[in-house]
Amino acid sequence: MDGAMSDAVRETSRDVSVRPSTETDVPAMVAIYTHHITRGLGEFDPEPMHADDIKRRRKNMLRRRLPHLVAERGGAVVGYAYAVPFRKRPAYRYAVKHSIYVHSEHLHSGIGRLLLPALIDACTSAGFRQMFAYIDADNTASQKLHEVHGFRRVGLLEGVGFKYGTWTDSLLMQRAIGDGATTPPTELAYSRTT
Ligand SMILES: CC(C)(COP(=O)(O)OP(=O)(O)OC[C@H]1O[C@@H](n2cnc3c(N)ncnc32)[C@H](O)[C@@H]1OP(=O)(O)O)[C@@H](O)C(=O)NCCC(=O)NCCS
Repeated sequence: MDGAMSDAVRETSRDVSVRPSTETDVPAMVAIYTHHITRGLGEFDPEPMHADDIKRRRKNMLRRRLPHLVAERGGAVVGYAYAVPFRKRPAYRYAVKHSIYVHSEHLHSGIGRLLLPALIDACTSAGFRQMFAYIDADNTASQKLHEVHGFRRVGLLEGVGFKYGTWTDSLLMQRAIGDGATTPPTELAYSRTT
């Protein structure tokens, strides 16, 4: 975290902890996700998310050693973040894309600022070299959060989404992690990508 930490973030870092998720966190993650997909700027999904979907995805990711983290405040899950393969083809196995969601009652209180660097660290330790985020072009909060943590805009995907009766653009943001593309990779702890 940078030296110019705001008071809110400093306060948050005292009472929020970030840890790997467990299966018992799933209902809280479903509630956070459901809130955002029904009204937010994040992903759009007209179908309700079921706990079994998250449980299955989470197990898949953990099998591939992809980080899946939650932020906890006062014993309650207030946010989560995870990485998935950027593409399935083996050539792309060192690149991940990620998602991050903060509970609607805890927005802009520094939780994203704790979760995102924790996810970056976890992806770096796991041997990945590049991280990507697709971010709705209107999602200023997410764009700023990612910029603060070293992501830069590498693409604009025009009219790629359709939600709430409107075509939407997405930004593609990227940052190198670890040695990025400057050194050969170390083989990942898992070798299968599908
Ligand atoms: C994007 C999101 C994860 C940010 O998490 P957060 O905990 O609210 O963010 P933080 O409080 O840690 O703020 C980090 C930085 O993000 C930016 N930010 C956060 N909320 C913002 C807002 N409402 N408006 C503008 N910038 C904002 C700021 O740069 C902020 O730094 P600052 O506090 O020094 O100004 C959160 O808003 C969220 O879950 N949104 C809904 C789901 C979503 O869009 N996920 C991302 C999909 S790509």
